[in-house]
Amino acid sequence: MIKRLLFILLVAGAFSCTQKSAQTTDAPAVDSAKAADKTPFPDFGFMVANYHGPVFKLSQNYPEAVPTEPLPDFFKIDFKKDWHKYLEAVRTYCFEGNTGVDFKVEYNKVRGWYHMPWQHYGPKGREGFHGLTQEAPVKAFQLAPTQTIDTAGAIAVGFYNDVSAYTIGQVWKDHYSPDSLHSVAFKNGSVLFKLLFVTLPKSVAVQQAPFLVNGVWWDAFCAPNFKKPNNRFKTQVALIQMDIMVRDDRAPNGWIFGNFQYNGALNKTNKWENLAPLGISWGDDPNITTNASNPKPTVTIINHALVETVINPDTKELPPTHLGWNSRLNGPVDNPMSSCYSCHSTAEYPENSPLSPLFFPTQAERDKYPPGSPAWMRWFANLKCGQPFDKDSKSMDFSLQLSASIQYFNEWKATQAGLYASAYKPALEKPMLKPEVIMTTDTTHKRHTEYRAIIPAN
Ligand code: HEC
Repeated sequence: MIKRLLFILLVAGAFSCTQKSAQTTDAPAVDSAKAADKTPFPDFGFMVANYHGPVFKLSQNYPEAVPTEPLPDFFKIDFKKDWHKYLEAVRTYCFEGNTGVDFKVEYNKVRGWYHMPWQHYGPKGREGFHGLTQEAPVKAFQLAPTQTIDTAGAIAVGFYNDVSAYTIGQVWKDHYSPDSLHSVAFKNGSVLFKLLFVTLPKSVAVQQAPFLVNGVWWDAFCAPNFKKPNNRFKTQVALIQMDIMVRDDRAPNGWIFGNFQYNGALNKTNKWENLAPLGISWGDDPNITTNASNPKPTVTIINHALVETVINPDTKELPPTHLGWNSRLNGPVDNPMSSCYSCHSTAEYPENSPLSPLFFPTQAERDKYPPGSPAWMRWFANLKCGQPFDKDSKSMDFSLQLSASIQYFNEWKATQAGLYASAYKPALEKPMLKPEVIMTTDTTHKRHTEYRAIIPAN
């Protein structure tokens, strides 16, 4: 009896993140006295001049009630044991109705998919062909021993199913006043995925990274040279990776991460299915502290000591890849010293810590976090869903686009304050926002470090 009670308490405790979401607390939402502003969010920030073809549409009619349809069937698959089957089932769910319409989700007849607002903002913001944002650099030899080009980058677009879009809509109820005062908690059943492309020139892409053969190529208005992020033009980019995140109450910490790598040698009729399951992870193995990484892979190094990650060992299905820190899960265009779980556990507002200790702006700061040290291991600590990384921040529940959306908005609001006040709200009753922008000198890992905390001035 006591045992059972303990079990129930434990289970309830593990998922308290579903209880204290932004929408269920008593405290008034920001600007609750005013009618919520529903001016549509911009679709994208960058596009070729005088273009008259079809453009990216931000899917932003977020559900106003928690969707009640039954969970997809993969919520019954044992994701630890039957990880391959599980990943294929999630992939099917993400593809249904989407691959036929090139992921223009407004034409999907099977189910609703949504995008995160405010990714149009800033120099890396969304482009207008497919809604892609500029992401991380791809270093020489990161993809394959033949990859000599050192200037390529990753660009990507993320999608949210209806359950997760409900939470986005709650945070962004007022389009001019997102709720950043409460920790966020995505509901069980949330499915997020992201398609990632690489900016290698089409003429040499297959020589550089042979698994890009039979590729899926998209138009993009982006900077192919990661080192010159403002030099955008219309180019083509190759599908290389797909990421998934599933909020599943069965997972020990609430979230499951999965990754697929493109392998054109599989030569599937539907090219999108050349995205082969690379691995799955439901935790960051906080007790494994050995410093190891494989930034220029010739083989995939699988670390069998990890108990919260499974990597696909099939060398026919996948080419050699680098994975993450000490072989935790990461995709080909991710940082080999990090992991999905690690980076995403820092999703919070204000963003008081970088995605990785390697991204602190100065060498002096970085030196305080030797890989594997207790200070470093804070980034591999198995935070649970809904738990903020820093105690003075609110959790954005592992969604880095959600934390970015609020940061970008507040950055814009701070710089546009006069225009904002006169154009949209006749009287500004709330205290203005005071930007505290910490500029970084690190140009390769600028991801989020350039716009740090923007804290309301009281
Ligand atoms: C170096 C840090 C880093 C690593 C490692 C990383 N991500 Fe992310 N991820 C980000 C950032 C930053 C964003 C938000 C901006 C964007 O979309 O690129 C993001 C966005 C996403 C999104 C869109 C949903 C959202 O709001 O966060 C998904 C899904 C995702 N990542 C999954 C993964 C998976 C799966 C892995 C591992 C295979 C992974 N990520 C590894 C930093 C990282």
